[in-house]
Amino acid sequence: MAPVIKLNSGYDMPQVGFGLWKVDNAIAADVVYNAIKAGYRLFDGACDYGNEVECGKGVARAISEGIVKREDLFIVSKLWNTFHDGERVQPIVKKQLADWGVDYFDLYLIHFPVALEYVDPSVRYPPGWHYEGDEIRPSKATIQETWTAMESLVDAGLARSIGISNFQSQLIYDLLRYAKIRPATLQIEHHPYLTQEELLKLAKREGITVTAYSSFGPASFLEFNMQHAVKLQPLMEDDTIKAIATKYNRPASQVLLRWATQRGLAVIPKSSRQETMVSNLQNTDFDLSEEDIATISGFNRGIRFNQPSNYFPTELLWIFG
Ligand SMILES: NC(=O)c1ccc[n+]([C@@H]2O[C@H](COP(=O)([O-])OP(=O)(O)OC[C@H]3O[C@@H](n4cnc5c(N)ncnc54)[C@H](OP(=O)(O)O)[C@@H]3O)[C@@H](O)[C@H]2O)c1
Repeated sequence: MAPVIKLNSGYDMPQVGFGLWKVDNAIAADVVYNAIKAGYRLFDGACDYGNEVECGKGVARAISEGIVKREDLFIVSKLWNTFHDGERVQPIVKKQLADWGVDYFDLYLIHFPVALEYVDPSVRYPPGWHYEGDEIRPSKATIQETWTAMESLVDAGLARSIGISNFQSQLIYDLLRYAKIRPATLQIEHHPYLTQEELLKLAKREGITVTAYSSFGPASFLEFNMQHAVKLQPLMEDDTIKAIATKYNRPASQVLLRWATQRGLAVIPKSSRQETMVSNLQNTDFDLSEEDIATISGFNRGIRFNQPSNYFPTELLWIFG
């Protein structure tokens, strides 16, 4: 079982969880069920992943077989961009909770700091980035409006903790001016090619726990044939990372995850393979030396993979500009 991190909301969050992006619908229920059996307690889902119904079935099976109780699990989900308008937040959270078959989320995040025009779930779900064809339509909602609606989720018992994802410093400073409930977590892309030093310092100072996503760097983006991912040295095959792994008699994947967890972050690796998911969970029972942590941090090149402009041609959406 993973160690826990105490969030500023007072709740404990497992430091190692399981990522659900790109887990195929046909296998998602089994993957979640097997991950629970392997010892995972945190599941990182989202409307946008399009598999919340199936993930919920995996949870229901594990609960019905007595492997876990609901309160043993830490279920995370995210608000998609098309539901930022204040009055859209509670209804979509209720739908997402129904999809999962649970009555509260342990943590609910704003997925991206960008508000897009509402798409009715009966028309298209998940809605994706485009309104129709290749058209991207902004909505008028501000982050303040959306955050106020997020706070109402806690008051209504629909989410225990709330947080943000893909936010950068300027917007976080702004949000902290008006937040009645501070974000418990900030979920960001973080790997040796993108070490996010300043953002980590800001989050630490403000008492916000950081969750790293895409901990293996380019590995997750090869399937999109992203050229800068394809051209980069895969981190798990890098000689320096491999030498560190050999020194600790651990797979390179565990070294990459341990580098993040020793920096105080939570991690949410995704794997559809049973032996790999078991291995990823076991990254907190050894320690890297400070020198090895610094060596891995030295890989930083400020390379980001997960941004809209890497998935589709856009002149309209530069979230990380
Ligand atoms: N907030 C956001 O905007 C955002 C964005 C991206 C991701 N996330 C969250 O973060 C989670 C993790 O990120 P991610 O899915 O991008 O990437 P990841 O966990 O860094 O990597 C997943 C890829 O690495 C492979 N892999 C996993 N463990 C491995 C191991 N031990 N050895 C070799 N290969 C391994 C997986 O393949 P196999 O499945 O074949 O093992 C998959 O191709 C997501 O699932 C999602 O929950 C959030």
